[in-house]
Amino acid sequence: MTQNEREVAEKTFVMLKPDALERGLVGEIVARLERKGLKLERLETKRLSKELIARHYAHLVGRDFYGELESYATRGDVIASIWRGPGAIAIVRKLVGATDGAEAEPGTIRGDFALGGTENLVHASDSPEAARREIALFFGDAR
Ligand code: CDP
Ligand code: MG
Repeated sequence: MTQNEREVAEKTFVMLKPDALERGLVGEIVARLERKGLKLERLETKRLSKELIARHYAHLVGRDFYGELESYATRGDVIASIWRGPGAIAIVRKLVGATDGAEAEPGTIRGDFALGGTENLVHASDSPEAARREIALFFGDAR
């Protein structure tokens, strides 16, 4: 990394959802982010409460699919993680692919491994504000 790249390095929050653990895809997903050059800063297995998932997905509470999303996200362990690198937020979103696995491009995590729009393996922050909020929500004072 050059000096300038270090200066613009940012952090993003990535969560491997229960299907990633159930299907044994943790290593595959983590390896893709590592091979891209992103640095793993924190990684923790957690079981999410309904309260935490409602705060994380606050913008989706009340949508018709929220019940399904809540049971999916709370049915097993997840892996919460923080990744760092220049442009990390946008880069991880690209590596993850479109929300619906059926629409996601081949070569992306969802495009290669997910079929549907709910069970899509991974969450990634979509903006600097979301990254700050999500890192604080899952890792407390970690910056
Ligand atoms: O995860 P992403 O940012 O791509 O999508 P989102 O619009 O923020 O939605 C969050 C999550 O809700 C998705 O990743 C899906 O697991 C779920 N979802 C769903 O079950 N049905 C939808 N129509 C949209 C999203
Ligand atoms: Mg989102």
